Amino acid sequence: MKVAVYPGSFDPFTNGHLDIVKRSLEVVDHLLIAVLKNSSKKNLFTIEKRLEIVREVFEDDDRVKVDTFSGLLVDFCRERNIKIVVRGLRVVSDFDYEHAIYLMNNKLLKELETVFFMSKGENAFISSSIVKEVASYGGNVEDQVPPTVHAHMMKTYENNQ
Ligand code: PNS
Repeated sequence: MKVAVYPGSFDPFTNGHLDIVKRSLEVVDHLLIAVLKNSSKKNLFTIEKRLEIVREVFEDDDRVKVDTFSGLLVDFCRERNIKIVVRGLRVVSDFDYEHAIYLMNNKLLKELETVFFMSKGENAFISSSIVKEVASYGGNVEDQVPPTVHAHMMKTYENNQ
C-alpha cells in the first residue's frame, strides 16, 4: 500500500491544494495531509481550526487523513515510515523554493522521495496568502477555496469586524 504525505501550512486550504490531493490519490492509496503548526501571527486560522477545516473537506474520503506536525518534516515522515512527499508546483517561481526543500529533505533522509504535481492552469494563480488578502478586504474568493473553507473564512472575517 502506497502512502504519501502532503505537507503545508494550508492557511487556508485552497482549490489548488484540493486538486493536488485528488490527483495524488490517482497514484497513491492513502494521503496524509500534514498541517504545519507554525507560530506566524499572520495566520488566519489557528492550527486547531486548520485541522478541523481540512478534516471537514475530506470527511467522506477515508483515503485521506489529516494530522499536524511541528519541527522537521523528515522526522514526521521517519516516525510514520512514510517515504513519499507530495507537493504542488504552480509557476516557475515556485521551483527554486521547492527544489531547495527537496534537496534539504533528501539530504536529511535519503530514502525520502518528493513527487511534484504541476497545478492545472485554472489553479496556477491561487495562493493562500493572496486569497487571505483579497477576502480580508471583502473580495470574492468563492471559486478559489472549497465551500467549507469559504464558510469558515466568512465567519472569521465577520467576527473580526
Ligand atoms: O504550504 P507551505 O507553507 O509552502 O509549506 C511549507 C512546508 C510546510 C512544506 C515546509 O515549510 C516544511 O516542511 N516545514 C517543516 C520544517 C522543515 O522540515 N524544514 C526543512 C525543509 S524547508
